Amino acid sequence: MANNANRSCFRMSDKVVVVAGAATGIGRASALRLALEGAAIIAASPAGESAHIDSLVEDVKAAGGKAIGMAFDATDEASVKALVDAAVDKFGGLDAVHANFADLRVIFDDSDILSVSDDVLERTLNVNLKGMVRITRHALPHMIARGGGAMVYTSSTASKIGEPVRPCYAMAKAGINALVRHVASAWGQKGVRANAILPGLVITPEKRSTMPSDLQEQVLAAGRSTRLGEVEDIAAMVALLVSKDGEWVNGQCIAVDGGSTLN
Ligand SMILES: NC(=O)c1ccc[n+]([C@@H]2O[C@H](COP(=O)([O-])OP(=O)(O)OC[C@H]3O[C@@H](n4cnc5c(N)ncnc54)[C@H](O)[C@@H]3O)[C@@H](O)[C@H]2O)c1
Repeated sequence: MANNANRSCFRMSDKVVVVAGAATGIGRASALRLALEGAAIIAASPAGESAHIDSLVEDVKAAGGKAIGMAFDATDEASVKALVDAAVDKFGGLDAVHANFADLRVIFDDSDILSVSDDVLERTLNVNLKGMVRITRHALPHMIARGGGAMVYTSSTASKIGEPVRPCYAMAKAGINALVRHVASAWGQKGVRANAILPGLVITPEKRSTMPSDLQEQVLAAGRSTRLGEVEDIAAMVALLVSKDGEWVNGQCIAVDGGSTLN
C-alpha cells in the first residue's frame, strides 16, 4: 500500500473497473492501485479464494476506496457475464477491465509439445485464453454503450520469447496478444482501447517465500535491471492504461520486465 501511495495520483475518481483475477499477486496490487487512484473496483476470483478477495476489499475500504468482491470462474460463461454486469448494477457502468487471471497450477504439467496431455492443453486454453474471450464479449457492449472503455489484459513475455517448456501457456498468452490487436482494430473508433501487459518474472509476495533465493539471484544477474520485478510495477502500468494518460495507447503489447526482453 505504501509503495503504491507514493506513486499514485488521483486519476480515475469517475471510473468503474473490474479486476478479474484479483485474489493475490498482480491482480491484488492492481485493484489496490486503481482504488487508490479513485476507481470503484469489482474484485473477483474463484469462490475458493473468497477469503483473499474479502481481505482485499477490506484493505481498499480502510484506505478510503470503493470496492466490492465477487466470485467468478473464467470457464463459466454465466459467472463471467454476472461479473461485468455487476459493474453496471452496483456502480452504474463499466469503464475498464483488468483481465488478469490465469491457471498457474496446470503450468507445472505443461511440459513440451510432444509429451503434454490434451487435458493440460484444454485446461490452459479454457482459462487463460477462452476466459479472456468470454470476458471481452461480455464487457465490450457495456463499454460501447458508455462511449468507450479500456481492456487491459495480463499476457506474458512467455508469449514471444520462445522456451523449451510451457508451450500451452505461451500459446494462450500469444492468443491474448492477437485478441488485443483485434479488439483495438474493431472498436478503437468506438472509444474502446485494448492493450496487453507482458510481465517478465515478477516476484509476487507468494513467490518471494517459495522461489529459491539463488534462482532469484540468477534471474537478476541475467537481466537488465538493478532489481527483480514487483507486483506494483505491473499495477502502475495497468493504472496508466486505464487512466486518461493512456488515452492514445491502443492495440499494444507492452513488456514490463526490467528490460529482460527487447523489442
Ligand atoms: N508473476 C509473474 O512472474 C508473471 C509473469 C508473467 C505473467 N504473469 C501473469 O500475471 C497474471 C497474474 O499472475 P500472478 O503471478 O499474480 O499469480 P496469481 O496466482 O496471484 O494470479 C492468478 C489469478 O488468476 C485467478 N484465477 C485462476 N484460475 C481462475 C479461474 N478459473 N477463473 C478466474 N480466475 C482465476 C486467481 O484467482 C488469481 O487471482 C497471470 O495472468 C500470469 O500469467 C505473471
